[in-house]
Amino acid sequence: MRHAIVEGPCCPTGTLRVPGDKSISHRLALLTLFTDGWTMIDGFLESEDCLHTLAAVQRLGAELRRDGTTINVRGAGGRLRAPDGPLDMGNSGTGMRLLAGILAAQPFVSVMTGDASLSARPMRRIAEPLQQMGARLSLTGERGCAPVTIHGGGLNAISYRLPVASAQVKSCILLAGLFANDITTVVEPLPSRDHTERLLQMAGAPIRVAGDTITIAGNRGAALKLKAQSWRVPGDFSSAAFWIAAATAPGADLCIERVGLNPRRTAFLDWMRRLGATVDVVPEDDSCGDTGEPMGSIRIRGNNLLRGAETGGTEIPNLIDELPLVAVTGALAEGVSRIRDAAELRVKESDRIAVMARNLKLMGVRVQEYPDGMRIEGCGGRVPGGCSVDSDGDHRVAMAMAVIAGFARRPVTIRNSECTETSYPGFWQTMQRMGAHVQNSRCG
Ligand code: S3P
Repeated sequence: MRHAIVEGPCCPTGTLRVPGDKSISHRLALLTLFTDGWTMIDGFLESEDCLHTLAAVQRLGAELRRDGTTINVRGAGGRLRAPDGPLDMGNSGTGMRLLAGILAAQPFVSVMTGDASLSARPMRRIAEPLQQMGARLSLTGERGCAPVTIHGGGLNAISYRLPVASAQVKSCILLAGLFANDITTVVEPLPSRDHTERLLQMAGAPIRVAGDTITIAGNRGAALKLKAQSWRVPGDFSSAAFWIAAATAPGADLCIERVGLNPRRTAFLDWMRRLGATVDVVPEDDSCGDTGEPMGSIRIRGNNLLRGAETGGTEIPNLIDELPLVAVTGALAEGVSRIRDAAELRVKESDRIAVMARNLKLMGVRVQEYPDGMRIEGCGGRVPGGCSVDSDGDHRVAMAMAVIAGFARRPVTIRNSECTETSYPGFWQTMQRMGAHVQNSRCG
């Protein structure tokens, strides 16, 4: 286990690019299962999560070659190979839930496993619709969790209203729906990220989106073939968000280039503006046309004190992964901030409500937990710090705590710091580049 000791101030200036988008990288790797020939993916996120998905895709029949920042994958052409043992999906809910939709349609038995965190996350939310489609699927972990065993094949189309706003569950059903005997319909309770819909459209799949309703025509068991093409992955908005929060420090002036600006991912910018931050967005003209994703630059200047605000309702799915940072920026603002309607946070890589509340209290911030969020009394720019906090192995908790440590009066130790590799290789080096002093060492 490693820990990082962070000493501020962190004052981001200049320009920065963040690694490729995690959600898009997972999906592009999975789509190669249905393409013939070579797919080129420029900017694929080589983080632990996406590498687990890539390894699973290889075991199912794809071939991989690396060329600098580009990965080349020779697709499985829709003829998937039965895996010779369990597929280890690591820490990744996206990898496990999306791949389940594909495996449910394959004429073989497969098993997916994950690490301790993934093995505690709810999988009934994908098991129920896939079972309705006719897949034989069992969750052999405790209380409806992984390992997931799938006896796939012969899927029926369904019409399904998602009980939770979840892009992972939506995508799982859409991917399974590609193979069903008719048209599958998914209705979303609230808009969630739509990368799967955009990529399937760009790859030529028979998918239609009309408001909250998505339909996909199944191939009725015929071999599914998608276009092999070149893709360019935009920078991950969720990774950029750490530096957006950090660049509210006095004197900071940071431009983050080539970031994904999918409107279903960027509510954190609205949150920051509500707090009073100076944020400008410049969309890029050529965009990421190949992925159907908008892209551009974000400039943030730290010239004013933030004031507390509230988030909840329809905004939550749009900043779900940024909520640890919403809590952090609330703690740095003046006055009270509140997060509501975010009970989903309790079933992420950790219980992010409990873990963030505990860690912020250790930092000297007054926090009250709600079942679906928290109330934070802001400290007005600086926090006491001088403590040791634990990420509980959750990458976004580790990075959010690193950001607030940059505003602390005394150094902060972040235990379990290596988990940043899940989504952001090089995070600690960038933190140093942004002016903080970071000492990484092995412990325990
Ligand atoms: C993701 C969807 C979100 C998000 C996760 C990535 C995706 O999860 O929290 O980090 O790539 O589809 P839910 O869809 O379960 O909310």
